[in-house]
Parts: sequence; C-alpha cells; structure tokens
Amino acid sequence: MGKKALNVSSLLSRRLHDDRAKEVVKQLLAKDQDGHIVGHIDLRHHGDAYKSHRLLLGMGVDKSMRQQGLGMRLLQHAIEFCRQQDGIDWLDLNVLSANTPARNLYLKAGFEIIGEMSDCYRIDGEQVAETSMTLSTSG
Ligand SMILES: CC(C)(COP(=O)(O)OP(=O)(O)OC[C@H]1O[C@@H](n2cnc3c(N)ncnc32)[C@H](O)[C@@H]1OP(=O)(O)O)[C@@H](O)C(=O)NCCC(=O)NCCS
Repeated sequence: MGKKALNVSSLLSRRLHDDRAKEVVKQLLAKDQDGHIVGHIDLRHHGDAYKSHRLLLGMGVDKSMRQQGLGMRLLQHAIEFCRQQDGIDWLDLNVLSANTPARNLYLKAGFEIIGEMSDCYRIDGEQVAETSMTLSTSG
C-alpha cells in the first residue's frame, strides 16, 4: 500500500480541559483505499485534573501495513495536534519493554525514556517490564 492510499481522518476532538477519566480527546484513523481502518492513534487524559497538561498515547497499525512508514506518519500527526493545543505540554506513553518495534518508533520520533517498571505485569506467569516515555509538545 503506497503512501497516497492513506487517509488520516480525525474523528473526535473534544474540549481538552475537561478531565473526565481517561476519555479519548482525539482519535486519528488511517484508512486504506477501501475505507478499512489500518491504523489508529488514541490520545487520552490521564484521568487526573492535575495532569490535564499531559496526554497519554496509544496506537496500532494493521499487521499487513507495518514497516511502511504508517506508524510514523500517524505519530507525527498526533504530535503536531498536541503542539497546536495551548494547554498540552507533554505527550506520554507506556510500552512493554520487549516491544522493540514500538520502542524504536517512539525513540525515532523523539520520545525520551523516563523510566522502566520491571515486573509490571505477570503474563502467563512471566514477569513483564513496561517502559514509560514522554515528549515535550510545548512551544
Ligand atoms: C509499533 C507499530 C505501531 C509500528 O508501526 P509501523 O507502521 O510498522 O512503523 P513504521 O513503519 O512507521 O516504522 C517507523 C520506525 O519504527 C521502528 N520499527 C518499526 N517496525 C520495526 C520492527 N519490526 N523492528 C524494529 N524497529 C521497527 C523503526 O525505527 C522504524 O524506522 P525505520 O523504518 O527507519 O527503521 C506497529 O508495529 C504495531 O502496530 N505494533 C502492534 C501494536 C503496538 O505495539 N502498539 C504500540 C503499543 S505502546
């Protein structure tokens, strides 16, 4: 699928200073030529009124579309959206430490690692670590 097939649509855009818990404030969808969703980004509040200057990012790209630049394009849209919001100064995310594709993507986009929680999850009895990352979107 070439770059021209991508249509990034913005579904939801709500007032950024309402602090309803973890509500999606922005969703970006990438659709292929047939209108099928092949990638998404959700931006949410942390669910804490004192953290309303930060948003939390989650994303995914359909397996058939990976490693073709779509994840980075979506991420750049999301970062630009945050930069344009006066009250949003940080974009945060959490990623499983073993998720090399996602970690590489975020590092390449400029995110910094701010910490790692070892044994964050127990999945099938295995200790699984999670890495927290952030990007300044102020100024
Ligand atoms: C992480 C994910 C969104 C990346 O999307 P993508 O469209 O494949 O990413 P891109 O093609 O834009 O790649 C951008 C950069 O990410 C990194 N990357 C992507 N896939 C990679 C892989 N398989 N191995 C290593 N690095 C990878 C590279 O740095 C790449 O830059 P490069 O092409 O110059 O090497 C995708 O793999 C995915 O949806 N994974 C499952 C869901 C998930 O992990 N979501 C994140 C949860 S926090």
